[in-house]
Amino acid sequence: MIDRVLVTGGAGFVGSNLVRLLLERGYAVRVLDNFARGRQAYLQGLDVEIVEADIRQAEAIGGAFAGVDRAVHLAALGSVVESIEDPVTNFESNVLGTFNVLRAATEAGVERLVFSSTGGALIGNATPPVNENSLPRPISPYGAGKLCCEAYCHAFAHAYGLPTVATRFANVYGAYSDHKQGVINQFFRRIQAEQPMVIYGDGSATRDYIHVDDICRGLLSALTLDLSTPEVIHLASGEETSLATLAGYFKEISGQPDHPIEFADRRPGEVERNFATYDRAREVLGFHPEISLREGLAMTWDWLCQRNLDE
Ligand SMILES: NC(=O)c1ccc[n+]([C@@H]2O[C@H](COP(=O)([O-])OP(=O)(O)OC[C@H]3O[C@@H](n4cnc5c(N)ncnc54)[C@H](O)[C@@H]3O)[C@@H](O)[C@H]2O)c1
Repeated sequence: MIDRVLVTGGAGFVGSNLVRLLLERGYAVRVLDNFARGRQAYLQGLDVEIVEADIRQAEAIGGAFAGVDRAVHLAALGSVVESIEDPVTNFESNVLGTFNVLRAATEAGVERLVFSSTGGALIGNATPPVNENSLPRPISPYGAGKLCCEAYCHAFAHAYGLPTVATRFANVYGAYSDHKQGVINQFFRRIQAEQPMVIYGDGSATRDYIHVDDICRGLLSALTLDLSTPEVIHLASGEETSLATLAGYFKEISGQPDHPIEFADRRPGEVERNFATYDRAREVLGFHPEISLREGLAMTWDWLCQRNLDE
């Protein structure tokens, strides 16, 4: 029986949504976070145990795994652009940090660890749709680090008997994300400030956008279902959306159909086209996304507006 779940990075965007779902389902939840990016305020009023620690420090995190049945490892630095500017910090947090988490989970006898990997950044510039059989060729330190962590997850499962599942997220959006620097927040902030939305490139670059509630349902299944681990599973919408289309949705949702767009140079390390199929997730986890992009963006817009009012 699963009783206590540890969520590393539980004060971040995906984490604070997942913690809510786990509590709703009756699990005792412990969060490990150093609050470098996430916010204490996201967890305010929730019945969770909080361990403030840094996964880069092996000796500081062992205690957080005591009495934990299963764990979801989300703590990481999530920016492709930042990983190019500072690959050392990205390596220490994401690769060394994950190595420390795997060791601590093994030592504590954790029954299963679900790792948060990435689709686009890990695969690189392959012709989409990608799936679990696509050959990974990362083009950023962030993507390379996540691939390395998947390898360690697989190795720890075989060498030390720590069951692991690596879930590769598409581009996630939704509530508890106002600290994020991605395109969704950028469009929101620019519209609110009556400034043009900025598109890097000509607007034809594509992504696979998935609502955080769908990701959390996938994570819960990966955590709790009877699986033969280790597994690598894409959690994606299966739909390809260009930046120009995304900007169009924002114009519509904000009620400003003529809001201007400014085009800037493409940024290195960012893949041109990406979307993934979720056939494996459907087969193994019974996963299918429930929230359409148009609907999810409207929900996110409302949440960000409300958040602005609160501040
Ligand atoms: N959001 C996405 O679109 C997306 C896509 C693919 C993969 N992912 C992965 O999902 C995970 C969660 O992403 P997110 O969007 O919630 O990011 P986030 O930045 O909101 O959350 C990450 C959390 O980890 C914490 N953290 C960072 N470094 C730490 C450290 N050294 N020690 C302890 N805690 C640390 C941060 O404070 C933050 O609360 C990450 O591993 C990310 O790489 C996210």
